[in-house]
Amino acid sequence: MTYDFDKVIDRKGTSAIKLDWLQDMWGRTDLIPLWVADMDFATAPFITQAIRQRLDNPVLGYTDKPDSYYRAISNWAKQRYGLEVKKKHINFVSGIVPGIGMALNAFTEVGDKILIQPPVYGPFTWLTKRNGRTLVTNPLKLVDGTYRMDMEHFREQVKGCKVFILCNPHNPGGIVWTEEELQQVAEICYEEGVLVFSDEIHADLTLPPRKHRPFAMISEKAKMNCVTFMSPSKAFNMPGLTASHALIFNPDLRVKFRKFMDACELDLGHVFAFLAVEAAYSHGTEWLEQCLAYIQGNIDYVDAFLKEHTPKIKAIRPQASYLVWLDCREMGLSQEALNDFFVDKAHLALNDGASFGAEGEGFMRLNVASPRSVLEQAMNQLADAYAQWQ
Ligand SMILES: Cc1ncc(COP(=O)(O)O)c(C=O)c1O
Repeated sequence: MTYDFDKVIDRKGTSAIKLDWLQDMWGRTDLIPLWVADMDFATAPFITQAIRQRLDNPVLGYTDKPDSYYRAISNWAKQRYGLEVKKKHINFVSGIVPGIGMALNAFTEVGDKILIQPPVYGPFTWLTKRNGRTLVTNPLKLVDGTYRMDMEHFREQVKGCKVFILCNPHNPGGIVWTEEELQQVAEICYEEGVLVFSDEIHADLTLPPRKHRPFAMISEKAKMNCVTFMSPSKAFNMPGLTASHALIFNPDLRVKFRKFMDACELDLGHVFAFLAVEAAYSHGTEWLEQCLAYIQGNIDYVDAFLKEHTPKIKAIRPQASYLVWLDCREMGLSQEALNDFFVDKAHLALNDGASFGAEGEGFMRLNVASPRSVLEQAMNQLADAYAQWQ
């Protein structure tokens, strides 16, 4: 079956954050929304079908996680990554941001130090701060147009931390970490007694020929010293269904996490959550392959367009996911002026690079998971604004 990613779907009237927050965020609504990390494509039809089928029975009572839900997660992890996951390792969490927040509370105390690698997904910072923990940073290094970890600095910064939050693959850089980087992280964190939270929400969106490497597969030490967060939410465009999971292989860590979750019954999912995860992981291979090919095409298109029309805006091509990190430093604008350029001149809503940390200044994040025609319109608006700015 061929799936249609060209179809433009009007999201108005669905309370979509990507659209409905434009006014509050930028004070205007005439912007093409290319920010929040969800896709403008229809969720895979076997997922909507599973939800529809469930609605044939109109009793929407309390719903348990069936064994088939656990099996689907295990099979997917095994087939896609060779990762052995048993039912006991799987802990339902509504979202990965809430999951990391819960894990911070389960494993650390107020004031404890938490290490992150900016520029990185903004909630890592505010989760740490809002939960009263202390933020420690190990900024990434931009080397030959891609980010690498600064391992020497990592070794220093990680000392005395309780947790390192790894973004694997990395958002906003779209980086698939090398085996060597992950090995070093695993070794150092184990030696220093620092627990690793590996956020692998973008794993299924790793673009061929790259391959995702779950942190838990790096070594036995890594496996026993991590909490891995995964979800079909990004890859199958179902984040509104709030269904994710934390994989915990170390029994002592699992007991601690469950104790925290059980104290407030935090692993209660809604009636569509488990069946949607099951549908995605049971039938998703072919749909995802086509979706990734479409995303790859969009990245190629944007990269070529920028090179030709806006040479001072450079795409850092993602190795995973649909988020393109735009290096705009050559434009020589302050961050405020850069945002004004995209919003007031190009009429585009992108994520402000500074929301990923001060290291993101001079950058913007572009979400290319939209039908090509929408991206073409956006790129033309950008080129017009750029021509006038020059
Ligand atoms: C690295 C990363 N983690 C987590 C999330 C959000 O996860 P959730 O919606 O499950 O809370 C995102 C969304 O963009 C993300 O990029």
